[in-house]
Amino acid sequence: MAKKKGRVFSGARPTGRQHLGNYLGAIKNYVALQDEYECVYSIVDLHALTTMETTLNLPDNTREMALDWLAAGIRPDESIVFIQSHVPEVTELHTILSMVTPLGKLTELPTFKDKVRQQPKNVNYGLVGYPVLMAADITLYKAEIVPVGIDQAPHIEFTREIVRSFNARYKTNVLIEPQMKRTKVPKVLGTDGKQKMSKSLNNHIEMMAAPEETLERIMTMVTDPQRKRRSDPGDPDVCNVFSMHKIFSPVEEVAMINAECRRATIGCVDCKKRFAKNLNTHLAPFRERRDEIARDPEYVQDVLSDGAKRAHKIAASTIAEVKEAIGLP
Ligand code: TRP
Repeated sequence: MAKKKGRVFSGARPTGRQHLGNYLGAIKNYVALQDEYECVYSIVDLHALTTMETTLNLPDNTREMALDWLAAGIRPDESIVFIQSHVPEVTELHTILSMVTPLGKLTELPTFKDKVRQQPKNVNYGLVGYPVLMAADITLYKAEIVPVGIDQAPHIEFTREIVRSFNARYKTNVLIEPQMKRTKVPKVLGTDGKQKMSKSLNNHIEMMAAPEETLERIMTMVTDPQRKRRSDPGDPDVCNVFSMHKIFSPVEEVAMINAECRRATIGCVDCKKRFAKNLNTHLAPFRERRDEIARDPEYVQDVLSDGAKRAHKIAASTIAEVKEAIGLP
């Protein structure tokens, strides 16, 4: 294997079967980064606890998400794929980092304020420490690069501050200040054409559904709201189906739809069918691969336990260095 440029870390909460928002916003990028970097991808179950009322679905959601990742092209022989809580050193580092973290900054973060608004009855201590646990994730594995979406940008900046405080306080350089890697990702709207695609809004299109199911889902997509009748010309620039065509359809077809929608020579139904066809073609190899690896009930488990072992090796050595730098006896 060619020498890689550095280490990437990213994490995602176990949300079960993945949708196009997850795919375009994270997974696709995770897959591509493997070519250049040594990648560590974590299913952050501890982070998930900050917002969950029940943990009943955790095992299933973890397995389903891992299956989707692997089917979409994450290569577990090259990259480390593991469950956050399987490497408990992260909680130790979280505690240590919390001592160099000013509380006032945590409660000022927009992500924290959002959560307080969303779950006023469950403003738990873990929610305040969420970014510190993220900083522990990133620094435990000495990641140099963290690919995240815009909503997580303040957390990475925060991690950098924590690292600087830690290294300054203990006169060390054991922790690495990570760089954020913002890749150009399209904003993926749900089938409502208004809000960000998300499972909780039930406006999502699953990556790994059966082709017929995908078609059915696509048929419910909201298009240009001004186009009421088939004979009305449409405006592709405000149509969410068209923005998806731009991602998944061949360029000539995109140009054709663009022109014909404006002339009302293609209707929304046909346009959606074309999108479904192209999307299903794009996802077919992933779906095949998923069926294949899901057949062996132990495969995912083996991948995750091997990942945890490899992650643990790095974690144990970082923790030893951290304790030494602090002077913990
Ligand atoms: N907070 C991230 C999210 O909600 C998930 C996450 C946890 C993460 N730890 C991380 C992302 C470390 C990047 C690096 O999307």
